[in-house]
Amino acid sequence: MALRIGSLELDSRLLFAPIAGGSTPAYRRIARRYGAGLVVSELVSARGIVRQGIGRNYRYLAMAPDEHPVALQLFGSEPEDFAQAIAILLADPDMRQFDAIDLNLGCPVPKVVRSGAGAALLLDPPRAEAIALAAATALHGTGKPLTAKLRIGFGAGEEQGLTVARRLADGGVRAITVHGRTRAQYYSGVADRAAIGRVARGLAASHPDVVVIANGDIDSAASAADMYRQTGAAALMIGRAALGRPWIFRDFARTVGMDERIAVMREHAAGTVRLLGEEIGCRELRAELQPYLRGFVGASQLRRQTTTLATLSDVEELLAAVAATDGGESSE
Ligand SMILES: Cc1cc2nc3c(=O)[nH]c(=O)nc-3n(C[C@H](O)[C@H](O)[C@H](O)COP(=O)(O)O)c2cc1C
Repeated sequence: MALRIGSLELDSRLLFAPIAGGSTPAYRRIARRYGAGLVVSELVSARGIVRQGIGRNYRYLAMAPDEHPVALQLFGSEPEDFAQAIAILLADPDMRQFDAIDLNLGCPVPKVVRSGAGAALLLDPPRAEAIALAAATALHGTGKPLTAKLRIGFGAGEEQGLTVARRLADGGVRAITVHGRTRAQYYSGVADRAAIGRVARGLAASHPDVVVIANGDIDSAASAADMYRQTGAAALMIGRAALGRPWIFRDFARTVGMDERIAVMREHAAGTVRLLGEEIGCRELRAELQPYLRGFVGASQLRRQTTTLATLSDVEELLAAVAATDGGESSE
Protein backbone atom coordinates (compact mmCIF):
# COMPACT_ATOMS: atom_id res chain seq x y z
CA MET A 1 0.00 0.00 0.00
CA ALA A 2 1.54 3.26 -1.08
CA LEU A 3 -0.80 5.74 0.55
CA ARG A 4 -3.79 5.81 2.85
CA ILE A 5 -6.55 8.44 2.81
CA GLY A 6 -8.85 7.68 5.70
CA SER A 7 -9.79 4.04 5.18
CA LEU A 8 -8.99 4.18 1.48
CA GLU A 9 -5.80 2.46 0.37
CA LEU A 10 -4.07 3.65 -2.78
CA ASP A 11 -1.44 1.55 -4.52
CA SER A 12 0.35 4.49 -6.14
CA ARG A 13 1.12 8.07 -5.16
CA LEU A 14 0.58 9.34 -8.70
CA LEU A 15 -3.05 10.34 -9.08
CA PHE A 16 -5.04 11.35 -12.16
CA ALA A 17 -6.54 14.85 -11.89
CA PRO A 18 -10.15 15.78 -12.51
CA ILE A 19 -10.35 17.32 -15.98
CA ALA A 20 -13.60 18.41 -17.62
CA GLY A 21 -13.74 16.55 -20.93
CA GLY A 22 -10.59 14.62 -19.96
CA SER A 23 -11.19 12.45 -16.89
CA THR A 24 -14.15 10.80 -18.58
CA PRO A 25 -15.33 7.36 -17.46
CA ALA A 26 -13.72 5.73 -20.51
CA TYR A 27 -10.37 7.39 -19.96
CA ARG A 28 -10.29 7.15 -16.16
CA ARG A 29 -10.38 3.42 -16.54
CA ILE A 30 -7.40 3.45 -18.86
CA ALA A 31 -5.43 5.77 -16.55
CA ARG A 32 -6.15 3.49 -13.63
CA ARG A 33 -4.99 0.44 -15.55
CA TYR A 34 -1.70 2.16 -16.31
CA GLY A 35 -1.21 2.69 -12.61
CA ALA A 36 -2.89 5.92 -11.46
CA GLY A 37 -3.44 5.47 -7.71
CA LEU A 38 -6.75 7.32 -7.80
CA VAL A 39 -8.87 8.70 -10.61
CA VAL A 40 -11.29 11.62 -10.17
CA SER A 41 -14.36 12.53 -12.21
CA GLU A 42 -14.73 15.97 -13.67
CA LEU A 43 -16.65 18.50 -11.61
CA VAL A 44 -20.38 17.83 -11.34
CA SER A 45 -22.87 20.28 -9.88
CA ALA A 46 -24.17 19.19 -6.48
CA ARG A 47 -27.32 21.23 -7.10
CA GLY A 48 -27.67 19.65 -10.53
CA ILE A 49 -27.78 16.21 -8.92
CA VAL A 50 -30.31 17.44 -6.37
CA ARG A 51 -32.55 19.05 -9.00
CA GLN A 52 -32.22 16.65 -11.91
CA GLY A 53 -31.12 13.44 -10.29
CA ILE A 54 -28.34 11.30 -11.66
CA GLY A 55 -29.75 10.92 -15.19
CA ARG A 56 -28.18 13.88 -16.96
CA ASN A 57 -24.98 13.55 -14.96
CA TYR A 58 -24.57 9.84 -15.55
CA ARG A 59 -22.10 10.44 -18.39
CA TYR A 60 -19.65 12.01 -15.91
CA LEU A 61 -20.41 9.83 -12.92
CA ALA A 62 -20.55 6.36 -14.49
CA MET A 63 -17.97 4.06 -12.95
CA ALA A 64 -16.44 0.84 -14.20
CA PRO A 65 -15.78 -2.10 -11.89
CA ASP A 66 -12.09 -2.04 -12.80
CA GLU A 67 -11.38 1.67 -12.26
CA HIS A 68 -11.52 1.77 -8.48
CA PRO A 69 -10.54 3.67 -6.46
CA VAL A 70 -12.47 6.53 -8.03
CA ALA A 71 -13.51 9.83 -6.51
CA LEU A 72 -16.50 11.82 -7.74
CA GLN A 73 -15.95 15.57 -7.68
CA LEU A 74 -18.77 17.92 -6.71
CA PHE A 75 -18.98 21.68 -6.96
CA GLY A 76 -21.46 24.10 -5.47
CA SER A 77 -21.86 26.82 -2.89
CA GLU A 78 -24.61 25.57 -0.55
CA PRO A 79 -23.72 23.02 2.12
CA GLU A 80 -27.20 21.52 1.91
CA ASP A 81 -26.78 20.79 -1.81
CA PHE A 82 -23.71 18.69 -1.03
CA ALA A 83 -25.49 16.80 1.74
CA GLN A 84 -28.43 16.01 -0.50
CA ALA A 85 -26.36 15.18 -3.58
CA ILE A 86 -24.26 12.71 -1.58
CA ALA A 87 -27.41 11.15 -0.11
CA ILE A 88 -28.77 10.70 -3.65
CA LEU A 89 -25.52 9.06 -4.80
CA LEU A 90 -25.46 6.76 -1.78
CA ALA A 91 -29.07 5.70 -2.39
CA ASP A 92 -28.29 4.55 -5.95
CA PRO A 93 -26.87 1.01 -6.30
CA ASP A 94 -24.51 1.99 -9.15
CA MET A 95 -23.49 5.39 -7.85
CA ARG A 96 -22.77 4.28 -4.33
CA GLN A 97 -19.76 2.39 -5.70
CA PHE A 98 -17.67 5.58 -5.54
CA ASP A 99 -14.67 5.44 -3.21
CA ALA A 100 -14.40 9.11 -2.21
CA ILE A 101 -16.07 12.47 -2.73
CA ASP A 102 -13.86 15.36 -3.81
CA LEU A 103 -14.88 18.99 -3.24
CA ASN A 104 -14.00 21.51 -5.94
CA LEU A 105 -12.51 24.78 -4.65
CA GLY A 106 -10.45 25.51 -7.73
CA CYS A 107 -12.64 26.01 -10.77
CA PRO A 108 -11.82 29.48 -12.18
CA VAL A 109 -14.66 29.69 -14.74
CA PRO A 110 -16.59 33.00 -14.28
CA LYS A 111 -20.03 31.37 -14.26
CA VAL A 112 -18.97 28.99 -11.47
CA VAL A 113 -17.11 31.67 -9.48
CA ARG A 114 -20.03 34.14 -9.74
CA SER A 115 -22.27 31.50 -8.16
CA GLY A 116 -19.96 31.37 -5.13
CA ALA A 117 -18.61 27.92 -6.07
CA GLY A 118 -15.23 26.63 -7.23
CA ALA A 119 -12.35 29.02 -6.55
CA ALA A 120 -14.78 31.58 -5.02
CA LEU A 121 -14.79 29.41 -1.90
CA LEU A 122 -11.17 30.47 -1.31
CA LEU A 123 -12.66 33.85 -0.32
CA ASP A 124 -15.18 32.37 2.11
CA PRO A 125 -13.44 30.02 4.56
CA PRO A 126 -16.46 29.60 6.86
CA ARG A 127 -18.58 28.47 3.92
CA ALA A 128 -15.83 26.10 2.77
CA GLU A 129 -15.82 24.54 6.24
CA ALA A 130 -19.63 24.32 6.32
CA ILE A 131 -19.60 22.51 2.97
CA ALA A 132 -16.93 20.10 4.21
CA LEU A 133 -18.90 19.43 7.37
CA ALA A 134 -22.14 18.82 5.46
CA ALA A 135 -20.41 16.47 3.02
CA ALA A 136 -18.46 14.63 5.73
CA THR A 137 -21.65 14.18 7.73
CA ALA A 138 -23.42 12.76 4.67
CA LEU A 139 -20.54 10.29 4.21
CA HIS A 140 -20.38 9.35 7.88
CA GLY A 141 -20.47 5.61 8.46
CA THR A 142 -19.75 4.74 4.80
CA GLY A 143 -15.96 4.47 5.19
CA LYS A 144 -15.63 6.68 2.10
CA PRO A 145 -13.33 9.64 2.73
CA LEU A 146 -13.94 13.25 1.80
CA THR A 147 -11.18 15.02 -0.14
CA ALA A 148 -10.86 18.49 -1.64
CA LYS A 149 -8.94 20.28 -4.34
CA LEU A 150 -8.04 23.95 -4.20
CA ARG A 151 -5.78 26.58 -5.68
CA ILE A 152 -3.07 28.38 -3.73
CA GLY A 153 -5.05 31.63 -3.78
CA PHE A 154 -7.69 33.70 -5.54
CA GLY A 155 -6.24 36.99 -6.82
CA ALA A 156 -2.77 37.48 -8.28
CA GLY A 157 -0.17 36.97 -5.55
CA GLU A 158 -2.78 35.99 -2.95
CA GLU A 159 -2.45 32.89 -0.78
CA GLN A 160 -5.71 31.95 0.92
CA GLY A 161 -4.94 28.27 0.37
CA LEU A 162 -3.60 27.39 3.82
CA THR A 163 -6.39 29.14 5.72
CA VAL A 164 -9.04 27.39 3.65
CA ALA A 165 -7.23 24.04 3.78
CA ARG A 166 -7.28 24.21 7.59
CA ARG A 167 -11.00 24.99 7.62
CA LEU A 168 -11.63 22.07 5.26
CA ALA A 169 -9.63 19.78 7.53
CA ASP A 170 -11.65 21.00 10.51
CA GLY A 171 -14.78 20.13 8.53
CA GLY A 172 -13.65 16.55 7.95
CA VAL A 173 -11.61 16.54 4.72
CA ARG A 174 -8.93 13.78 4.80
CA ALA A 175 -6.81 14.78 1.79
CA ILE A 176 -6.27 18.08 0.01
CA THR A 177 -4.88 18.56 -3.47
CA VAL A 178 -3.17 21.89 -3.97
CA HIS A 179 -2.91 23.26 -7.51
CA GLY A 180 -0.05 25.74 -7.53
CA ARG A 181 -1.86 28.55 -9.33
CA THR A 182 -4.19 31.33 -8.28
CA ARG A 183 -7.65 31.69 -9.73
CA ALA A 184 -6.39 34.83 -11.49
CA GLN A 185 -3.85 32.72 -13.36
CA TYR A 186 -6.35 30.20 -14.70
CA TYR A 187 -3.88 27.80 -16.36
CA SER A 188 -1.21 30.32 -17.37
CA GLY A 189 2.23 30.78 -15.90
CA VAL A 190 3.97 28.07 -13.94
CA ALA A 191 2.65 26.23 -10.90
CA ASP A 192 4.22 27.78 -7.80
CA ARG A 193 5.84 24.89 -5.95
CA ALA A 194 7.04 27.04 -3.06
CA ALA A 195 3.45 28.21 -2.45
CA ILE A 196 2.21 24.60 -2.49
CA GLY A 197 4.96 23.84 0.03
CA ARG A 198 3.70 26.58 2.35
CA VAL A 199 0.24 24.97 2.35
CA ALA A 200 1.69 21.48 2.82
CA ARG A 201 3.98 22.43 5.70
CA GLY A 202 1.39 24.65 7.35
CA LEU A 203 -1.19 21.89 7.23
CA ALA A 204 1.32 19.31 8.46
CA ALA A 205 1.87 21.51 11.51
CA SER A 206 -1.82 21.93 12.35
CA HIS A 207 -3.43 18.79 10.86
CA PRO A 208 -0.74 16.12 10.49
CA ASP A 209 -3.26 13.41 9.57
CA VAL A 210 -4.44 15.19 6.43
CA VAL A 211 -2.74 14.04 3.24
CA VAL A 212 -1.44 16.79 0.95
CA ILE A 213 -1.30 16.12 -2.78
CA ALA A 214 0.66 18.52 -5.00
CA ASN A 215 -0.54 19.42 -8.47
CA GLY A 216 0.55 21.51 -11.41
CA ASP A 217 2.84 21.03 -14.40
CA ILE A 218 4.13 17.58 -13.46
CA ASP A 219 5.09 15.85 -16.69
CA SER A 220 8.26 13.89 -16.00
CA ALA A 221 10.17 12.02 -13.31
CA ALA A 222 12.35 15.10 -12.87
CA SER A 223 9.43 17.49 -12.35
CA ALA A 224 7.83 14.99 -9.97
CA ALA A 225 11.02 14.72 -7.91
CA ASP A 226 11.30 18.48 -7.78
CA MET A 227 7.66 18.82 -6.73
CA TYR A 228 8.21 16.37 -3.87
CA ARG A 229 11.40 18.16 -2.82
CA GLN A 230 9.92 21.64 -2.84
CA THR A 231 6.57 20.83 -1.25
CA GLY A 232 7.02 17.84 1.05
CA ALA A 233 3.66 16.59 -0.32
CA ALA A 234 2.73 12.95 0.22
CA ALA A 235 1.46 12.38 -3.32
CA LEU A 236 1.23 14.02 -6.73
CA MET A 237 -1.65 14.62 -9.11
CA ILE A 238 -1.11 14.76 -12.86
CA GLY A 239 -3.60 16.39 -15.21
CA ARG A 240 -2.82 17.61 -18.70
CA ALA A 241 0.38 15.60 -19.16
CA ALA A 242 -1.66 12.42 -18.67
CA LEU A 243 -4.16 13.17 -21.44
CA GLY A 244 -3.43 10.90 -24.38
CA ARG A 245 -0.53 9.46 -22.40
CA PRO A 246 -1.84 7.20 -19.69
CA TRP A 247 1.54 5.44 -19.67
CA ILE A 248 2.90 8.42 -17.73
CA PHE A 249 1.51 6.65 -14.65
CA ARG A 250 3.88 3.79 -15.37
CA ASP A 251 7.08 5.35 -14.01
CA PHE A 252 6.73 8.39 -16.25
CA ALA A 253 7.10 6.40 -19.43
CA ARG A 254 7.37 8.94 -22.26
CA THR A 255 6.09 6.77 -25.03
CA VAL A 256 4.93 3.30 -25.97
CA GLY A 257 4.95 1.27 -29.15
CA MET A 258 2.53 2.11 -31.95
CA ASP A 259 0.40 -1.01 -31.42
CA GLU A 260 -0.19 -0.14 -27.80
CA ARG A 261 -0.97 3.48 -28.59
CA ILE A 262 -3.54 2.45 -31.21
CA ALA A 263 -5.07 -0.10 -28.85
CA VAL A 264 -5.49 2.55 -26.14
CA MET A 265 -7.06 5.02 -28.58
CA ARG A 266 -9.44 2.30 -29.79
CA GLU A 267 -10.38 1.37 -26.23
CA HIS A 268 -10.94 5.04 -25.37
CA ALA A 269 -13.19 5.48 -28.41
CA ALA A 270 -15.14 2.28 -27.78
CA GLY A 271 -15.70 3.15 -24.12
CA THR A 272 -16.91 6.63 -25.00
CA VAL A 273 -19.30 5.35 -27.66
CA ARG A 274 -20.61 2.66 -25.33
CA LEU A 275 -21.53 5.32 -22.79
CA LEU A 276 -22.77 8.10 -25.06
CA GLY A 277 -23.80 6.38 -28.28
CA GLU A 278 -22.02 6.72 -31.61
CA GLU A 279 -23.18 10.21 -32.57
CA ILE A 280 -22.52 12.07 -29.32
CA GLY A 281 -19.57 9.84 -28.46
CA CYS A 282 -17.77 10.58 -31.73
CA ARG A 283 -18.45 14.30 -31.32
CA GLU A 284 -16.76 14.17 -27.92
CA LEU A 285 -13.88 12.12 -29.32
CA ARG A 286 -13.02 14.94 -31.73
CA ALA A 287 -11.47 16.74 -28.76
CA GLU A 288 -10.64 13.76 -26.58
CA LEU A 289 -8.40 12.04 -29.14
CA GLN A 290 -6.38 15.19 -29.88
CA PRO A 291 -3.94 14.77 -26.99
CA TYR A 292 -2.78 11.41 -28.38
CA LEU A 293 -1.44 13.30 -31.39
CA ARG A 294 0.54 15.85 -29.43
CA GLY A 295 4.03 16.20 -30.76
CA PHE A 296 3.40 13.57 -33.41
CA VAL A 297 5.13 13.81 -36.76
CA GLY A 298 2.30 14.60 -39.20
CA ALA A 299 0.02 15.66 -36.35
CA SER A 300 -1.66 18.58 -38.07
CA GLN A 301 -3.17 16.41 -40.81
CA LEU A 302 -4.28 13.82 -38.25
CA ARG A 303 -5.74 16.55 -36.07
CA ARG A 304 -7.80 17.84 -38.98
CA GLN A 305 -9.10 14.33 -39.52
CA THR A 306 -10.09 14.15 -35.85
CA THR A 307 -12.30 17.23 -36.14
CA THR A 308 -14.77 15.47 -38.44
CA LEU A 309 -15.20 12.16 -36.59
CA ALA A 310 -18.83 11.04 -36.81
CA THR A 311 -18.79 7.24 -36.70
CA LEU A 312 -16.65 4.44 -35.31
CA SER A 313 -15.51 3.66 -38.83
CA ASP A 314 -14.17 7.23 -39.04
CA VAL A 315 -12.26 6.44 -35.84
CA GLU A 316 -10.86 3.29 -37.47
CA GLU A 317 -9.76 5.38 -40.47
CA LEU A 318 -8.04 7.80 -38.13
CA LEU A 319 -6.29 4.92 -36.34
CA ALA A 320 -5.14 3.53 -39.67
CA ALA A 321 -3.72 6.94 -40.56
CA VAL A 322 -1.97 7.12 -37.20
CA ALA A 323 -0.54 3.65 -37.72
CA ALA A 324 0.69 4.67 -41.18
CA THR A 325 2.87 7.43 -39.76
CA ASP A 326 6.36 6.45 -38.78
CA GLY A 327 5.32 6.79 -35.15
CA GLY A 328 7.98 9.37 -34.57
CA GLU A 329 7.32 11.89 -31.87
CA SER A 330 9.01 15.24 -32.00
CA SER A 331 11.00 15.74 -28.86
CA GLU A 332 8.67 18.49 -27.48
C1 LIG B 1 -9.53 21.54 -19.59
C2 LIG B 1 -9.35 21.44 -18.09
C3 LIG B 1 -10.42 21.02 -17.32
C4 LIG B 1 -10.27 20.93 -15.92
N1 LIG B 1 -11.33 20.49 -15.18
C5 LIG B 1 -11.19 20.40 -13.83
C6 LIG B 1 -12.26 19.91 -13.00
O1 LIG B 1 -13.33 19.52 -13.49
N2 LIG B 1 -12.05 19.87 -11.66
C7 LIG B 1 -10.87 20.27 -11.08
O2 LIG B 1 -10.72 20.22 -9.85
N3 LIG B 1 -9.84 20.70 -11.84
C8 LIG B 1 -9.98 20.76 -13.18
N4 LIG B 1 -8.91 21.16 -13.93
C9 LIG B 1 -7.61 21.46 -13.28
C10 LIG B 1 -6.72 20.23 -13.25
O3 LIG B 1 -7.26 19.23 -12.42
C11 LIG B 1 -5.31 20.59 -12.72
O4 LIG B 1 -5.44 21.15 -11.43
C12 LIG B 1 -4.58 21.60 -13.60
O5 LIG B 1 -4.72 21.28 -14.96
C13 LIG B 1 -3.08 21.66 -13.24
O6 LIG B 1 -2.49 20.37 -13.30
P1 LIG B 1 -1.66 19.88 -14.61
O7 LIG B 1 -0.61 20.91 -14.89
O8 LIG B 1 -1.09 18.55 -14.21
O9 LIG B 1 -2.65 19.78 -15.73
C14 LIG B 1 -9.04 21.26 -15.31
C15 LIG B 1 -7.97 21.64 -16.12
C16 LIG B 1 -8.10 21.74 -17.48
C17 LIG B 1 -6.91 22.15 -18.31
